[in-house]
Amino acid sequence: MTIAIYPGSFDPITKGHLDVIKRAATVFDKVIVAIAQNISKKPLFSVKERKEQIEDALQSIANIEVDSFEGLLVDYAKNKKAKVLIRGLRAVSDFEYELQMALMNRSQYDKLVTVFMAPNEKYSYLNSSIIREIAKLDGDVSKFVTPYVCEKLKEKFTQ
Ligand code: COA
Repeated sequence: MTIAIYPGSFDPITKGHLDVIKRAATVFDKVIVAIAQNISKKPLFSVKERKEQIEDALQSIANIEVDSFEGLLVDYAKNKKAKVLIRGLRAVSDFEYELQMALMNRSQYDKLVTVFMAPNEKYSYLNSSIIREIAKLDGDVSKFVTPYVCEKLKEKFTQ
């Protein structure tokens, strides 16, 4: 059984992330979407809210689990008996940072293999900060996030 982890802050999850997760679920026996806590970013949504958003989007796919973690990713991967770390490569500009992370993670735990996947090109310019900014300024993000996330963004910015 090959378990793969797809880590990120997912604040919020976008269709770009979902595209990568769905592709990964066709390749690996189990995909754990792991929400990172305790990173330097100050999140808009709590871990619980982000978990609900991801579960809502992926409820029809049986081999996906949504979880959260604190501390080093490699320690979490060991605990989960994961052999694979999935990362999305959207553009060449992602490469340097991703290579650094992959090599650093490997230096800590060499049994964990990083696999890069390319999301659909129509989502290649997305990230979560830009979605939050557009939503905050009352722009339309419905092409880039699920209806549930769209609703939750509206609620956050009209509170
Ligand atoms: N579609 C759309 N957006 C995407 C995307 C995709 N396919 N892939 C990445 N992004 C976005 C993310 O939403 C994020 O946007 P933001 O910066 O506006 O929030 C941005 O691209 C960067 O993504 P990523 O590099 O995945 O950052 P992240 O914060 O989501 O996750 C961790 C980084 C959590 C994986 C990393 O910090 C980590 O492993 N932390 C644990 C501590 C640790 O082990 N550190 C040592 C690492 S060597």
